[in-house]
Amino acid sequence: MTDRKIIVKVPASTANLGPGFDTLGMALSLYSWLEMSLPRSGKTVIELHGEGLDGIPLDKSNLIYKVAQLVFAEADIEIPELHIAMYSDIPLTRGLGSSASAIVGALTAANALVGFPLTDDRLFQIATKLEGHPDNVGASLFGGIVVSAWDGERAEKVRLDPHGDLEVLVAIPAFHLATEKARHALPAHIPHADAVFNVGSSSLLVAALASGKLELIKHAMRDRLHQPYRAALIPGMQEILIKATEYGALGAALSGAGPTLLTLVDTNSLRKAELEQFLIQTLGRAGIKAETMWLKPCATGPEITILQGEESGGSLLERIKGEVRA
Ligand code: HSE
Repeated sequence: MTDRKIIVKVPASTANLGPGFDTLGMALSLYSWLEMSLPRSGKTVIELHGEGLDGIPLDKSNLIYKVAQLVFAEADIEIPELHIAMYSDIPLTRGLGSSASAIVGALTAANALVGFPLTDDRLFQIATKLEGHPDNVGASLFGGIVVSAWDGERAEKVRLDPHGDLEVLVAIPAFHLATEKARHALPAHIPHADAVFNVGSSSLLVAALASGKLELIKHAMRDRLHQPYRAALIPGMQEILIKATEYGALGAALSGAGPTLLTLVDTNSLRKAELEQFLIQTLGRAGIKAETMWLKPCATGPEITILQGEESGGSLLERIKGEVRA
């Protein structure tokens, strides 16, 4: 293990997909990379590269370090000092699962470093407890579309293969929205009729995605549990949710807790440029600058590379140079 270096490439994720609050997630073709090994110096070194990562602690209070220690503790192995390097293309606090991807990366890399003592299910349980909901972590860990339920003790899940024609257009506003703040906007109680509405929409959405009936998405990607209450935090959102299908989207939702807006698109659509303009202009009229990105659902979870001996030399940034967005 002493000269082993692990590199994991972990997908971003979108949670909820509209009605499936805290239960539906989909992995996206946007990634973070995490490298983990024993430090040559014998002392912990943590290097973070990527936009918005300044200010994150680089000592043993770092989330990735702490999550890795949970794996070692369960495996009954002591590794107090680690070399950790991370590069992320996933924007922070925008609703694209950056923290879930960091947690999944840390769990997967630490598990690989000590020879895979924990099962993926065990990693899923730990990740769900840490995040407080299984949607983002499930998608980052298993890839594809993950339907999950958590009772506070155990999370169960079914993974679905995303339809080959599904494409994703996200509009990422140029402001941050902490999940905690977006969860604070939610009421303690909702009308029974709204709960029924969401059960119907979410069930129909899962059935539509599982059976490939993409034309049903627009009837199913509707929500009364969280999006209406979060609307005030994201100017322009309501108009996008109501009108995106008129501009060629299969459906639209707030991505996770926001502020990113997500539309599902048939890859064969001839109206992609029109939809992109609609998103940018609608947010623009509401005073919000946003960056759009065309993504695909990512069908797989973390890609793990194990380097040994001489091949483990070189920096993470050099190794992933051709793969990153920037
Ligand atoms: N399901 C969560 C929410 C995702 O909407 O608050 C955010 O991480």
